[in-house]
Amino acid sequence: MKTSGYAAGSLLTVADLPMDEVAAILAATERIERMAGADRARMLAGRRIALLFYESSTRTRTSFELAAKSLGAITTLVSDKSSSIEKGESLKDTGLTLRALGAECIILRHANSGAPYLLAKATGLPVLNAGDGMHEHPSQALLDLRTILTRVPGLNTRRIDAKTLAGVTVVITGDILHSRVARSNAMLLPKLGAKVLLCGPKELLPEDALGLGFVGNTGSVEIERDFDKALKKAQVAMMLRIQRERLAGLELDVADYIVRYQLNEERLMGSAPDTVVMHPGPMIRGLEIAGEVADAPNSAIEDQVRHGLAVRTALLVRALGLGGFESVTS
Ligand code: NCD
Repeated sequence: MKTSGYAAGSLLTVADLPMDEVAAILAATERIERMAGADRARMLAGRRIALLFYESSTRTRTSFELAAKSLGAITTLVSDKSSSIEKGESLKDTGLTLRALGAECIILRHANSGAPYLLAKATGLPVLNAGDGMHEHPSQALLDLRTILTRVPGLNTRRIDAKTLAGVTVVITGDILHSRVARSNAMLLPKLGAKVLLCGPKELLPEDALGLGFVGNTGSVEIERDFDKALKKAQVAMMLRIQRERLAGLELDVADYIVRYQLNEERLMGSAPDTVVMHPGPMIRGLEIAGEVADAPNSAIEDQVRHGLAVRTALLVRALGLGGFESVTS
């Protein structure tokens, strides 16, 4: 799916995000982060941003909202649980209603893959995809990229190009099949030269997963089912939750899964003592990740949350004020 034809500043997918845009978003993130609070609060003063959430969210929703508020914008949250969506209103009509109320940008999380495209087309507004079904989570991949750039030693973070992550192997382990986080990361990170190793049992990582839209499959995205082998190659271990809400009757032997794929202290220290541990959240301690690993010095999980707030300020400035965005990227 292409983003051309949608309002400038939309972020629907990382698939066609050019390298100079990735670099511009990261540069803007840094500039905005360094600004005095009062200057930042003038950037989108009085602009109206709607958060439209059809699925639960803690980090993504809160960080978009706090990012918008730190830029001086006015935000409103519409959730499927307490709005006319419960009465059967369509996504298109909800979008048109928000536009009539003055929304200039909509941040959308939806259970259906592709929903942000429909909304962007129906409203003509910039839409930021905050996670659509099993498809994509572009802002998560960008915040994960920033976390990797700041936590993996020896990278030249000043130069964002196809070699910036050369030599970095990112192991993504868990429920790959249902994960929009895995999909966006598997598309974005190889563009910067990273190798992505997908790891998990057949039920959660079918053989043909790479054929299901993992682009850039030129040896830069591979499957390694043996977690310990994968970890030995990893500079970054990204753990994923088993998405019970999307399993659709699929039976999984959780006890066996824990034995084979849980990131615990013994495994981390044995196979990958210097590996940066990441997790997009929400994490289920004791299942895909042991509590002591989540809290270990290797863990960049809270960094990810902080970078989420920062990256999302840049995405909002990019969506709402292109002139303003240019001034913070150069
Ligand atoms: C993820 C999501 O919703 O895609 N969480 C997030 O946004 N940080 C992952 C998940 O739900 O497991």
